[in-house]
Amino acid sequence: MKFILFLTLIFSAVILPVAIYGQERSLNIIYTGSVNGELEPCGCSPKTDFGGLARLSGYLAAHRNELSPYILVDAGNFTDKDTPQGKLKAAAVLRSYSIMKYDAVAIMNNEKAFPHEFIVSLLKDHAIPAVSDALTFDQSLLIDREGIKVNISVNPDGNRKDAVNVLLTDRPVSGAGLIKGWDVIIVSSGDILDEPLKVDGTVIVTGYPRGKKTGILTLTNDSEGGVKKLSHKWISLGADIEEDAKVRSVLNEYDLKVSGLLKESAKPLAGDTYLGAAMCAECHLPYEESWKKTRHAGAFDILIKAGKSNDPECIACHSVGFGEKGGFFTLETTPELANVQCEECHGLDREHIEDFSRPMRRVTEKICLKCHTKENSPDFDYPVYLKKIIH
Ligand code: HEC
Ligand code: HEC
Ligand code: HEC
Ligand code: HEC
Repeated sequence: MKFILFLTLIFSAVILPVAIYGQERSLNIIYTGSVNGELEPCGCSPKTDFGGLARLSGYLAAHRNELSPYILVDAGNFTDKDTPQGKLKAAAVLRSYSIMKYDAVAIMNNEKAFPHEFIVSLLKDHAIPAVSDALTFDQSLLIDREGIKVNISVNPDGNRKDAVNVLLTDRPVSGAGLIKGWDVIIVSSGDILDEPLKVDGTVIVTGYPRGKKTGILTLTNDSEGGVKKLSHKWISLGADIEEDAKVRSVLNEYDLKVSGLLKESAKPLAGDTYLGAAMCAECHLPYEESWKKTRHAGAFDILIKAGKSNDPECIACHSVGFGEKGGFFTLETTPELANVQCEECHGLDREHIEDFSRPMRRVTEKICLKCHTKENSPDFDYPVYLKKIIH
């Protein structure tokens, strides 16, 4: 009995590795695409609380051994718009990508909208290899990962015989389906394919918009190096995933810089516009009291807790009249207009306090939908939500 066991042990120790490494080899292609500068989800609802670069990095760190060998690529459109905040996002994305050691990123339309030098110097600073059809970039690069050669390219004619061929494109899936001769095409157009699409010998996958999920394609090669088998899975990056501390600090630094941007920017002109709940309460005390019991009255505190109280992209829905004359600007300058107050629903009508007979606008569902979007409030159901705030 013991003897047989001993034999089996030797057997598996000697024969198995040869069987795995001598004939078949597996490689994971971990990919993102059309991340659109989404550094992390807003956390507005648990249902949409997926993605984020610190979680992705944490996931990779925790699973490095079982994922290896792998290559990590971004198919492009990883930046948002070319605005001052968009530039900070672009820098934070690429800093995070360098921490995660991306093997290649593609420069697509979103990136091309920035000044060329800006993107080029970011890539250089962070030593991130890039492919693009824009001038000064290489269109293809060859990666050798533990003996498996992978050709990463943006050129539909750039496939080669001696490698696994991976094309990065921002064409829609329908356009990608017409391109021949590739093992894998990764699309960053914003289209979503829940499952890989097989067209002839090519597997087409899409980067999940805003990084809500990360894709993993597992290729198994035969002994000649051709792709023999292919499987796919999505990694949904939920709140249960432990964040990587290094990327988290990049994101925290980003928040500080965004805060600086807001505070340096010109405060919108003062206007005799928004009054604030305290003013309304002078004549409508019971309404103010009932409003205070709703979550709207604490909507700004939640931003402070999240470290996002100076991020224009959050403030817009968590305060009154942000960006408008006489609306909320910062907690220091306009504390009386923090939180979702009366005038976000009832509208702006300063003359009302002199002429009570002027009818205020009717509160309709459309008013709620400005903030209760599919992304930020996936459970929104007007009758149900209205019941919770009616006073
Ligand atoms: C388009 C409007 C909108 C934007 C922009 C927005 N939010 Fe929200 N947020 C909401 C709404 C609406 C809810 C309530 C969702 C619900 O419960 O249905 C919410 C809820 C939240 C919550 C959960 C509150 C709780 O009590 O659990 C957090 C946290 C939050 N938002 C943070 C942020 C942050 C951080 C940002 C910026 C990155 C942001 N929000 C941007 C509309 C927005
Ligand atoms: C100086 C007192 C005063 C202030 C301040 C005031 N209101 Fe009024 N408001 C009234 C009175 C009085 C009425 C009742 C008018 C009537 O019944 O014709 C009224 C009516 C309303 C109505 C019902 C209007 C309608 O169309 O039927 C709303 C909504 C309202 N106020 C909201 C507000 C909000 C929001 C604020 C703060 C921006 C505010 N009020 C500030 C005195 C005030
Ligand atoms: C200016 C943006 C804005 C508008 C307009 C707005 N909301 Fe909200 N709402 C929010 C935010 C932000 C939160 C989350 C606050 C928090 O939890 O801290 C929220 C939370 C809520 C909640 C609590 C959700 C829960 O599950 O307990 C209800 C209910 C709600 N809103 C109903 C409405 C209705 C109904 C309307 C329209 C009549 C409306 N809201 C208009 C931003 C807005
Ligand atoms: C999330 C949206 C929302 C917010 C915030 C809100 N209200 Fe209202 N309020 C409503 C809705 C909905 C009604 C029901 C009447 C309607 O359809 O216009 C109402 C009704 C009222 C009425 C009575 C109107 C009438 O027809 O008799 C007053 C007065 C009023 N609100 C004052 C306030 C004051 C003051 C605040 C802030 C302290 C406030 N509301 C905050 C949505 C809101």
